[in-house]
Amino acid sequence: MVRATPFLLLLFLALGAHGLAVKKCSLTGRWVNDLGSNMTITSVNAKGVFAGSYHTAVTATSNEIQLSPLQGSMQKSPNQKGQPTFGFTVNWSFSDSITVFTGQCFVDEYGKEVLKTMWLLRSHVENIKNDWKATRVGTNVFTRLQSLE
Ligand code: BTN
Repeated sequence: MVRATPFLLLLFLALGAHGLAVKKCSLTGRWVNDLGSNMTITSVNAKGVFAGSYHTAVTATSNEIQLSPLQGSMQKSPNQKGQPTFGFTVNWSFSDSITVFTGQCFVDEYGKEVLKTMWLLRSHVENIKNDWKATRVGTNVFTRLQSLE
């Protein structure tokens, strides 16, 4: 027991230090997704509310793509353990559509931040009979372009 004590102490310190060094995932900054779309999240406030801009690489319309605003919210619960869930809406400046994204900010096995998301893109249709074809669904994976800090 006496011989094991220093070992246990070292193990405890090592685990403690590791716990302190665990990298957290931050939404703030510039991101690019698997389609080549760019997104900037300028800041996240104390309540988890954030805003930014989105430049999509693709469109379901024939309109010219323009930079569009986004507004979102991040979970602030302590159970999030540095990998928070979030959602945001992009109100497209150049079309009648709206996209909502939901996702989680992860730190991968290499220490790289990655946003795994799912989205719903709601297009405007002329009448209720066309409602069935108004919503597209998909996934996007975002990686960090450059930190604002
Ligand atoms: C539109 O076509 O009406 C607006 C642009 C929609 C772009 C979609 S949103 C989901 C997917 N992810 C992207 O980065 N772009 C497309």
